[in-house]
Formats: sequence, structure tokens, C-alpha cells
Amino acid sequence: MKNPLIIYDSLTGNVDRFASRLEYKKMKVSPELEVNQPYFLVTYTTGFGEVPKSTQVFLQRNFNNLLGVASSGNKNWGRLFGKSADIISSQYNVPIMCKFELSGTRNDIERFTQEVNKIVQFNSKVD
Ligand SMILES: Cc1cc2nc3c(=O)[nH]c(=O)nc-3n(C[C@H](O)[C@H](O)[C@H](O)COP(=O)(O)O)c2cc1C
Repeated sequence: MKNPLIIYDSLTGNVDRFASRLEYKKMKVSPELEVNQPYFLVTYTTGFGEVPKSTQVFLQRNFNNLLGVASSGNKNWGRLFGKSADIISSQYNVPIMCKFELSGTRNDIERFTQEVNKIVQFNSKVD
């Protein structure tokens, strides 16, 4: 796995902006999307600390290739900040790459990239 794939979900554009700054191949969640290679998921948190419905539906069909998850959120939500990442991480037993506010900072992009690269390197050793 030399070129990781990023799958992202976004309602109001923050995760879109985060994803657009990543130097990886990426695709946005859509109702019929099927992914047949390992990927990292970036989504957001909605409701009261919930995973967006579109992300849930996508994961039901594609959880088997999921390597890790990140979530956008807003710290105003306190302990529910980026909770979507915690839910997906425990439901599918994958690591959290990071949680970030809104469209993220340069630091968030760096952190996410480092975490992805660690997993990519590990996987290419065991491939
Ligand atoms: C109705 C609503 C509920 C939200 N609930 C949460 C929440 O529980 N926790 C959190 O961290 N952020 C919450 N947020 C903030 C969003 O996760 C944040 O704005 C995110 O950047 C949206 O991503 P998007 O612009 O890509 O759709 C909520 C936002 C809205 C509009």
C-alpha cells in the first residue's frame, strides 16, 4: 500500500477543505460508493455526538477495508467533540488518526499525515 486512499464525508464543507489540503488520492462518500482497497476515513460529528447517516451507510458496505478514522467537530460541544471518531473506532476496531476543529489547522494536517504514514509503513512491511 504505497498510495493510501482517503474517503471523506462532508455536509457544510469543512471536511472538504481539510481533505483538499491532503496530498493523497481522495474520494467523497456517495450513496453507491464501493471501495475495494484499504482506505482512511475522514468524517464529521453531527446531532449530539453522532456519526452522520451517510457515513454510517457507507461503512455498513465498506467497513472491511477501513484502516483508520478522523473526525471534524467543534470544541463548543465539550465531551462530544469529534465523538464520531470514537464511535467508529470502537465499532470497527480501527485507530483514530486525529480529531480536528472545523476545517483543521496546518498542525492537524501534519498530525493526520504522520499517523497515516505510520500505518502505511507498517502495512507495507507486513504485506
Ligand atoms: C447540527 C449539528 C450538530 C453538531 N454536533 C456536533 C457534535 O456533537 N460534536 C462536535 O464535535 N461537533 C458537532 N458539530 C460540528 C460539526 O461537526 C463541524 O461543524 C464540522 O466541521 C462539520 O463538517 P462539514 O462542514 O464537513 O460538514 C455539529 C454541527 C451541527 C450543524
